[in-house]
Amino acid sequence: MHSMSSTSAFLQAYARFLPLLFIQLLIAYLGAKRWPRLRSFFYGLFALVFLYSFAGFPRFGGKMSRPGWMVFAMGLWTYTSTIAFACYMAVEGIGWVIRFFSPSARAGSSTAATRSTDKTRRELITTAAYVAAAIPTGVLLYGCAIERERFRVEEVSIPFANLPADLEGFRILQLSDVHRSAFLSQKDLTRVVDACRELKPDMIVHTGDFISGKGDPLEACIDELARLNNNEPAFGCLGNHEIYAEAENLATLLAARRGITVLRQATTQIRRGNVVINLAGVDYLRRISSGKYLTGREGLLLPGAFNVLLSHNPDVFRASAPLGFDLTLSGHTHGGQIRTEILHEDIDMARFYTPYVSGLYRSGTRVCYVTRGIGSIGIPSRVGAPPEITLMKFTKA
Ligand SMILES: [Fe+2]
Repeated sequence: MHSMSSTSAFLQAYARFLPLLFIQLLIAYLGAKRWPRLRSFFYGLFALVFLYSFAGFPRFGGKMSRPGWMVFAMGLWTYTSTIAFACYMAVEGIGWVIRFFSPSARAGSSTAATRSTDKTRRELITTAAYVAAAIPTGVLLYGCAIERERFRVEEVSIPFANLPADLEGFRILQLSDVHRSAFLSQKDLTRVVDACRELKPDMIVHTGDFISGKGDPLEACIDELARLNNNEPAFGCLGNHEIYAEAENLATLLAARRGITVLRQATTQIRRGNVVINLAGVDYLRRISSGKYLTGREGLLLPGAFNVLLSHNPDVFRASAPLGFDLTLSGHTHGGQIRTEILHEDIDMARFYTPYVSGLYRSGTRVCYVTRGIGSIGIPSRVGAPPEITLMKFTKA
């Protein structure tokens, strides 16, 4: 039995899922109409989606655990089909408008010649609609099969105006948003860690989202990441998905056992020559429009030290820069994950959330670096935002 609150949370989540299900039903209907012989296939697929939606939501108390391949396939299907459907309907909609305003429709004439022109036009628009639906489908499948697994090391030099001499050339390896789940296999993670092994940084940081949800292999993920630790100190902070998975304490404990110190509203100091690096970490801070993320946490800053903040949410830079953190390291956005350029403007979902989507940002002398991270959520695909292993090097500006 679910408690009252988890039942209402389940219903709320389900209500959000309903429009998606409606779209799936329409797709099945249109597909069955277009290809009547495949009717049972389309309705069968819809039935599967419907059952899946009920069996899911382990976060809200659902008990059924689904095999990884199914979670993967459903993630791909749900988003790809929805976008394809939207594109199809957009072109059909344009077709309806054209037909509505066409001279023959307005004059109400219906000769054999105009009927034939109308038919040709309708066929042309339907073909265009199928092409419009096929393009995003193809792009998302490419992002799933190719770009999602194109792990690469980004070497970034971070210039600071007043960098202490002892910190020149200091190198940090940052990994983030691994999301070890059905969308990122243990084999993939091993490839990522192998790619990092030769980098020999001075410090390793993990900026949250080790996993995606409850039941994901958190311990295996942390064990694999701990293979990176040679003699370098390793630190981390927690992401929003550790909250969703209710694994904040467990992640902290497992990481500590394997030599990774997760800083939860806490600091630690590292000495390098005559300089003290004050490394602070905060749990995931939910987005607030005022940007006052660190009110009451001013004590995380150590005056006189070189201050670095680990915060999963990059929007926190709005507060960490004025407070005095020299460097803020974040993830969370996946660099937009699916990113397209329309009219020379980069469009991605993360934009609506924060201006800090990926790469280097400055506010006066303070710097924030947002990594695109490793994994994916929602749909197992990355387009225009390949996974990133970050190796940064401090330089004097
Ligand atoms: Fe993430």
